[in-house]
Amino acid sequence: MADQLIIFDTTLRDGEQSPGASMTRDEKLRIARQLERLKVDVIEAGFAASSNGDFEAVQLIANTIKDSTICSLSRANDRDIARAAEALKGANRARIHTFIATSPLHMEKKLRMTPEQVLEQAKQSVRFARNLVGDIEFSPEDGYRSEVDFLCRVIEAVINEGATTINVPDTVGYAVPELYGNFIKTLRERIPNSDKAIWSVHCHNDLGMAVANSLAGVKIGGARQVECTINGLGERAGNCSLEEVVMAVKTRKDYFNLEVGIDTQHIVAASRMVSQTTGFVVQPNKAVVGANAFAHASGIHQDGVLKARDTYEIMRAEDVGWSANKIVLGKLSGRNAFKQRLQELGVQLDSETEINAAFARFKELADRKSEIFDEDILALVSEDSQNGESEQYGFVSLSQHSETGERPHAAIVFTVDGKEVQAQSDGNGPVDASLKAIESHVKSGAEMVLYSVNAISGSTESQGEVTVRLQNSGRVVNGVGADPDIVVASAKAYLHALNKLQNKVDRVAAQG
Ligand code: KIV
Ligand code: ZN
Repeated sequence: MADQLIIFDTTLRDGEQSPGASMTRDEKLRIARQLERLKVDVIEAGFAASSNGDFEAVQLIANTIKDSTICSLSRANDRDIARAAEALKGANRARIHTFIATSPLHMEKKLRMTPEQVLEQAKQSVRFARNLVGDIEFSPEDGYRSEVDFLCRVIEAVINEGATTINVPDTVGYAVPELYGNFIKTLRERIPNSDKAIWSVHCHNDLGMAVANSLAGVKIGGARQVECTINGLGERAGNCSLEEVVMAVKTRKDYFNLEVGIDTQHIVAASRMVSQTTGFVVQPNKAVVGANAFAHASGIHQDGVLKARDTYEIMRAEDVGWSANKIVLGKLSGRNAFKQRLQELGVQLDSETEINAAFARFKELADRKSEIFDEDILALVSEDSQNGESEQYGFVSLSQHSETGERPHAAIVFTVDGKEVQAQSDGNGPVDASLKAIESHVKSGAEMVLYSVNAISGSTESQGEVTVRLQNSGRVVNGVGADPDIVVASAKAYLHALNKLQNKVDRVAAQG
């Protein structure tokens, strides 16, 4: 019988560490629900001790999600571990993931600890955690650049203390597949009690090999857990991407001979949700979830696919959630049809009031746009969840004038703490004028480090989805806005980013 490969998703923890990708508690819960629908085995919901916001998010997810194991990261100290256990109290199945760096470089320069001190702290932390929760994962941070003899001692000791999963991170994305696979194999062969734990891989993508390294860790090393994120989100070049690793193992079952419990039909919706929530756009040629992943542009390919689909397709688009007929609703669609489509897309709105608000916005959009696609609906509910009453700034209306040879001008009405204000400005273009108008009133002083526009569903009839990344006093945030008018989408994205800048969190860095 084929072994089970455990899928451990860390979008909400390692993914969120990506500058600008921070999410609110409610956004995290929405993504956690989608991960549960995907049937992810373990959801790393956050790093409970890093901030009150993270604690609350882990707690909310632990209290709500019932089918997946909920995990919190924690540094290897009693305070962090106790905080993680506290946040996880309501979970059906809880896991504490504790870590400490073991590479010579990290121990000496970052921790300023001797190897013996690190070994003692690792043991003591796992012992402490094991008294609180039965499911304990231990990670030797920068494990791949650690000395093998020392790593063997640490891992053997923490398994003796009760660690049930051993995760070997390639923290800086330095590994290459064959070497990483053999590294895990060597550890498993040399550590006498290695069979008492499940082995896990956690690879970063700095050299573009995170998925390949993870698969080698599984195939050569015998790991039975992969840590990954939706869209490969994560610090720097990101983490191993869930959709790629899952589809590789499923599509090449002949080679890997492993079972994966993921319900792949929810993959595309999960990808859209994470992209729209964080503002990290998915590149069109991204495997599995990119807009072109199943598009056949060349005549030869199209001809082949029409004659026999498997001439050029190794996976079926519908198996990962690309719907064949994407036009779903229009102006005449009723509330029930809208509600049913939300359900089919896996979107759960908690109350009738939320559904009514989303339906009203859908009608507004349908008045301006004849065909409403799944992507439009996902953008709409994602925007609704951003516009909570607690937000400081909200979009109301905008008018702008641009004409060849004249300097564009914009006038905008938006709310500040519920009160309407008006502002206007000139600019190089209508978008520039609109954002300058907002800034002339708000005076945030934030620097714009990224502006990007993406057509949600392809044609010029499409809604534009705008991402604005702002930097202020060392903080980086992404704002996202969608509208058929890209100037309006830009203003919404800018206001969204300003709202995020207001939500100051005092956070401890996971690898700090
Ligand atoms: O990359 C890494 O080393 C980590 C650990 C905290 C597991 O994310
Ligand atoms: Zn990591």
